[in-house]
Amino acid sequence: MRKSLKKKLSNSLSLETLDEVFSSFDLIGDIAIIKAPSNSNAAVLVAKQIMVIHKGVNSVFLQTSPVHGDHRIRKLTLLAGKNKTVATYKEAGCLFAVDIEKCYFSPRLSYERLHIACQVLPNETVINMFAGVGCFSIITAKKIPNTKVYSIDINPTAYKFMKENILVNKVFGKVVPLLGDAKDVVETQLQGVADRVLMPLPEKALEYLPVAISALKKEGGWIHYYDFQHATTEEDPRKKTEKKVAEKLTSLGIHYTFAHGRVIRSTGPYWYQTALDIRVNGCPSNLNNTNSFR
Ligand SMILES: C[S@@+](CC[C@H](N)C(=O)[O-])C[C@H]1O[C@@H](n2cnc3c(N)ncnc32)[C@H](O)[C@@H]1O
Repeated sequence: MRKSLKKKLSNSLSLETLDEVFSSFDLIGDIAIIKAPSNSNAAVLVAKQIMVIHKGVNSVFLQTSPVHGDHRIRKLTLLAGKNKTVATYKEAGCLFAVDIEKCYFSPRLSYERLHIACQVLPNETVINMFAGVGCFSIITAKKIPNTKVYSIDINPTAYKFMKENILVNKVFGKVVPLLGDAKDVVETQLQGVADRVLMPLPEKALEYLPVAISALKKEGGWIHYYDFQHATTEEDPRKKTEKKVAEKLTSLGIHYTFAHGRVIRSTGPYWYQTALDIRVNGCPSNLNNTNSFR
């Protein structure tokens, strides 16, 4: 599909613009999102060709702002097709309804979501601190027997879709949707209960790390930590994330092991999204009051 689209557009767009279009092209259900070209005539041309080639696409939007704010949303402008922003997306045998304008969503994290789900063991209690419409939580609950996933998000619209997605995927009772700031929710309801905590919000992961640790059982557990990292060609972005996190954990007096670090994707020139699986070996008792070690 992408090859034939590229061929169709190659007469009207420069190679550089074509590369920009294809590196930013996301398909979420029947909605396509592109970030380039910024020239509106060219963008409409690309959008129309996308609709010709991808018969299942009903709307094409141009992303006109970076992902921003607490809810991690983006501004979109309709280029072609229907002006509707709710899509149904399939991943790992699950169905997710999402409003792509009012909630964060990226199909580019699909491999990572499955990777995490596959690490969870039966009977584990998991906390997803930044759950969005519930993809990590629901895939995990669907695949792993007897898991309980507390699934938190601060965005009321994402929470609404998360609740719908829990019902549609028949994981009601296994995934518990919680609306609020993850720090407040964990401190008031989820101290010392988890085998595993997911932190898929790079912008807040370091600040919320003490809260995440306080959610683990006293014998310890796993933290899945996400980061954005700048790295030159001589530098390893995983090592930079490890250094930052090691400093924080050491300052908190936590015993830990870094089990696995990885680069999930490039997010711009010399910028990377990284992930770190951290084994926390037992939690000091003062961790239940996270304010005491900030
Ligand atoms: C990068 S998205 C991750 C979404 C999800 N994990 C996924 O794979 O689609 C981060 C999410 O964290 C939520 N968020 C931001 N600050 C938060 C906070 N303090 N507590 C709970 N959720 C928060 C945002 O609303 C957003 O849905």
